Amino acid sequence: MLKINNLSKIYGKNKVKALDNINLEVKKGEIFGFLGPNGAGKTTTIKLITGILKIDEGDIFVNGIDVKKNPIEAKKQIGFVPDNPEIFNRLTGLEYLNFIADVFEMDSEKRADIILRLAEEFEIKSALKERISSYSHGMKQKLVLIGALMHNPPVWILDEPMVGLDPKSAYTLKNMMRQHADSGNTVFFSTHIMEVAEKVCDRIGIIKNGRIIFVGTVEELKEKKNDESLEKMFLELIENE
Ligand SMILES: Nc1ncnc2c1ncn2[C@@H]1O[C@H](COP(=O)(O)OP(=O)(O)OP(=O)(O)O)[C@@H](O)[C@H]1O
Ligand SMILES: [Mg+2]
Repeated sequence: MLKINNLSKIYGKNKVKALDNINLEVKKGEIFGFLGPNGAGKTTTIKLITGILKIDEGDIFVNGIDVKKNPIEAKKQIGFVPDNPEIFNRLTGLEYLNFIADVFEMDSEKRADIILRLAEEFEIKSALKERISSYSHGMKQKLVLIGALMHNPPVWILDEPMVGLDPKSAYTLKNMMRQHADSGNTVFFSTHIMEVAEKVCDRIGIIKNGRIIFVGTVEELKEKKNDESLEKMFLELIENE
């Protein structure tokens, strides 16, 4: 579960109001897609949820845990994939995953099994002994995904997770997201891919200029907008608001 109450964020000296009093609730069992044009505030929201940025105003609860009051406990609930997979280039893939497993205090037998299973699912096993500096963008993305998911966090927070993934891995990830939500967990992800949003999400939220302009199911949006495609409705909404 994820709850965001009256969240605002202002950046730096220029006082850019990146988020303006947003409210959202994502329940257990739900996949929630966060859509919005470039610069709308998606990554800012995600950085506040994951504790990378300090909350100026408002509150965030991850599975009921207050991110401001209990940051470490809140982080333990989260599997986070950032928008950019720039990670320790000098480590091998396996060293990186072992490092993450150490941080989350996973026992050594369990981690080996999970790393093997996920590396096979994402077809990256043969590269785990190579240095990350030799990886392609998509391979780095896969490694970050495995690192984020291997400690079995209940709440997944994924910032444009499909970027760079080949079709098969994107398909694997979509299935994993569904399974995770169906097992009573929470998936919150941002995307620019309308097809993914339409197919995968139980509900979507649309943000523009730091304000939420729609929350609901794609069907609800279609009822409002005479059954147009999500792409068309999205473009109209962000144009008109
Ligand atoms: N570190 C920063 N310093 C100052 N302004 C920032 C910073 N990071 C983001 N912003 C501003 O905050 C606003 C929201 O940016 P954010 O990265 O959250 O957008 P986004 O919805 O993730 O966009 P995209 O789809 O391009 O990833 C933008 O106006 C951006 O210029
Ligand atoms: Mg972003």
